[in-house]
Amino acid sequence: MESVFYSPTRIIFGEGSLKRVGEEAKKFGEKALIVTGKSSSKKSGSLDEVVNSLTSHNLQVEVFNKVEPDPSIGIVEEGAKFAKKCAADVVIGLGGGSPMDAAKGIALLMTNKGKITDYFGTDKVKEPALPIIAIPTTAGTGSEVTKYAVITDQKKMLKQIIGSPHINPKLALLDPLLTLGMPASLTANTGVDALSHAIEGYVSTQANPVGDILALKSIALIAEALPRAISQPDNLKIREKMLFASMLAGMVINSAGAGIIHGMGYFITLHYGAPHGLANALLMPEVMEFNLVANPTKYRNITEAMGKKVEGLSEKEAAHLSVVAMRELLQKIGIPKGMKEIGVKEESLAGFAKIVSKNERLLTLNPRRPTTEEIEEIYKRSM
Ligand SMILES: [Fe+2]
Repeated sequence: MESVFYSPTRIIFGEGSLKRVGEEAKKFGEKALIVTGKSSSKKSGSLDEVVNSLTSHNLQVEVFNKVEPDPSIGIVEEGAKFAKKCAADVVIGLGGGSPMDAAKGIALLMTNKGKITDYFGTDKVKEPALPIIAIPTTAGTGSEVTKYAVITDQKKMLKQIIGSPHINPKLALLDPLLTLGMPASLTANTGVDALSHAIEGYVSTQANPVGDILALKSIALIAEALPRAISQPDNLKIREKMLFASMLAGMVINSAGAGIIHGMGYFITLHYGAPHGLANALLMPEVMEFNLVANPTKYRNITEAMGKKVEGLSEKEAAHLSVVAMRELLQKIGIPKGMKEIGVKEESLAGFAKIVSKNERLLTLNPRRPTTEEIEEIYKRSM
């Protein structure tokens, strides 16, 4: 059977690699626009480091530091206006998934006419975006190596996806020093987002042999390192493993896509404000339970990657053990037991299920196609 793996982003990985941003950005032009969040990159000093590296290579630097978590249509449009005014040659996304996704939206509006909403969907972008350099400061999103940008449509209460190879960053600069000392909840939520990418990409209907290798490696690294990243926040070796694993998982979904964990999780974020990774974490065990009959061999492999022994078990038992391993991991890293604990109301679930059941793209990628009733049932079981 034919399979496709696509990963065009050049990757520089390693302690201190942030210092390379100036010489790398210089290859794309004279004016750099940094897109970042409101305060964390300033507080941590990473913004100053990027600015210093750029100016020491004689680049002109502008900063757009208004990106909020789950970036909105408005903020991307505002950033694009600013980018046009300063005639940027290269856009640098610095932060978690939100600034990197906003940077992609801004970079694409520099070279493509119209509004950001014109590009919601798959392969709508006509022209290559302005070159993007992505610098993650969390270990989770994988956005630094993906063709996806997730933009929040607050009017329609939807998370909209732009999926286009034209917005794949030209360069991902991954410096584990930037993730040192992340607070426990941010480490847990972002780490589990990466795990959901590795798992959803691994069992996706678009999974491929190259991505599968990366996915299993990513799952194994996260299962081992994530609890330790929380108990030892300043351990650079562990942070390095998490950053590497989240990048691998990003490479996996770049070709294989995600599934209904993401499709369902978006509504828990939109309506209850749960961080993206937490929303996914709360749904992951029950989605796995639902999906595993579609591909028990792969779920058995997930069980093994998560460090559980499968000798002597039937394939079905071994596959089911992946759900047990997941629940144990989530408990270890302090994820609430169910959605009730974060205030999700049961009466909202039928409405969410209806909208999820119209998300043809994610339903097609999911290994088992659920009905609207089944989606509602998974939500309820995740309470
Ligand atoms: Fe995600």
